[in-house]
Amino acid sequence: MANTVTTQELEILSSKAISAKSTAYCPYSKFRVGASLLTHTGEYIIGANVENVSFPVGTCAERVAFGTAVVNGHKEFKAVAVASDITPGASPCGMCRQFMREFLTPSVPIYMYDGQGGHIVKTMGELLPNSFGPDDLR
Ligand code: THU
Repeated sequence: MANTVTTQELEILSSKAISAKSTAYCPYSKFRVGASLLTHTGEYIIGANVENVSFPVGTCAERVAFGTAVVNGHKEFKAVAVASDITPGASPCGMCRQFMREFLTPSVPIYMYDGQGGHIVKTMGELLPNSFGPDDLR
């Protein structure tokens, strides 16, 4: 199955998302978020939130990770992990859900890690049902 993630891959994916929190630039909210992506070729890409003094200009961890992935030639993904310090773990914002939908099919899992080692997992389709995706414009 295209979207099957092994236990070992998930272990790496989660530890990368959790460690990516330390790269966040979040002087205004002090709310650290790390993200990691597992590409369909087995590579890992990380991101973290990058805030701005003009608040709406700041970017979420998920969009930093996907932007980094795309400019490095990756457009297909097996899984996503997002890590924050709250419990339950932060869930991607609406803008990030649409941004991710550009590159994720509805069955791709998104793991949300909390600050205590726990997580919940939802698919892209669960986070953004009845979505407007790339195929709708082609
Ligand atoms: N944030 C993310 O990076 N990802 C999420 O899933 C939720 C929110 C960031 C945006 C902002 O820098 C901070 O968390 C507080 O909203």
